[in-house]
Amino acid sequence: MNTLTAPEQAARERMKVSHGLNGDAVRLAHLYRGWASDFDLDQARVGYCGPSVVAELAGAVQTAYLAGSRNEIAILDAGCGTGLVGVELERLGFRLIDGFDLSEEMAEKARQTGVYRHARGNVDLNGPLSDHASASYDLTVCCGVFTLGHVGPAGLRELARVTRPNGFVVASTRKSYAETTSFEGEIRRLQDEGVLVPAQCLRNGRYVAEEDAHYWVFRVPEEKASAQEEPRL
Ligand SMILES: C[S@@+](CC[C@H](N)C(=O)[O-])C[C@H]1O[C@@H](n2cnc3c(N)ncnc32)[C@H](O)[C@@H]1O
Repeated sequence: MNTLTAPEQAARERMKVSHGLNGDAVRLAHLYRGWASDFDLDQARVGYCGPSVVAELAGAVQTAYLAGSRNEIAILDAGCGTGLVGVELERLGFRLIDGFDLSEEMAEKARQTGVYRHARGNVDLNGPLSDHASASYDLTVCCGVFTLGHVGPAGLRELARVTRPNGFVVASTRKSYAETTSFEGEIRRLQDEGVLVPAQCLRNGRYVAEEDAHYWVFRVPEEKASAQEEPRL
């Protein structure tokens, strides 16, 4: 029996449509332009808890591995959307939070939260992040972006590049995305090249009511040799 309310059903439908866009930047930007004002409400309707998990994982990684106080950690929220992750990060004591998103309207919502130092729109993670210098961030987080129809596994390389050596990337992958893309193959390729090292993975964690996700923590190695000493995935 279908016990979903009409708004819950509509929210699931919108999410499904977004998953069918094959990474087409024009269509994704168009969809999110129209979705920006209702996005947070819809995410509550589908039981989206990814932002809490990613932010808390980032907090644990910072406490465990990164020296200095939390409010001095430079953190990038890649595909920040309306800022759901940034709000959680701020609640946990992070203060130097930058964000970017393909959609200018979503980034504007993120700016309105007041928790971001900078939140830029029109940035496409399926291409080079040419306006972002290498090794700019201690931590990079990415939630709900490595998902069906959005950003391909190749986007992980740029996230590693903008993160400093011995910094970390925390990312979610919707379970069906991990199963149907070459995400784990990309991890192995990047590990072989010394670009990143998988440090932790919370598999099958809660994400949205209808599907779980895997939550990854990657370390950006100091140099190639140290990456090859780590156990392989
Ligand atoms: C499901 S939302 C997640 C937003 C936010 N990270 C969160 O967890 O609430 C996916 C976001 O990815 C953005 N996006 C989609 N394709 C992108 C791309 N190629 N580059 C950057 N952002 C992209 C969308 O505009 C949207 O804001």
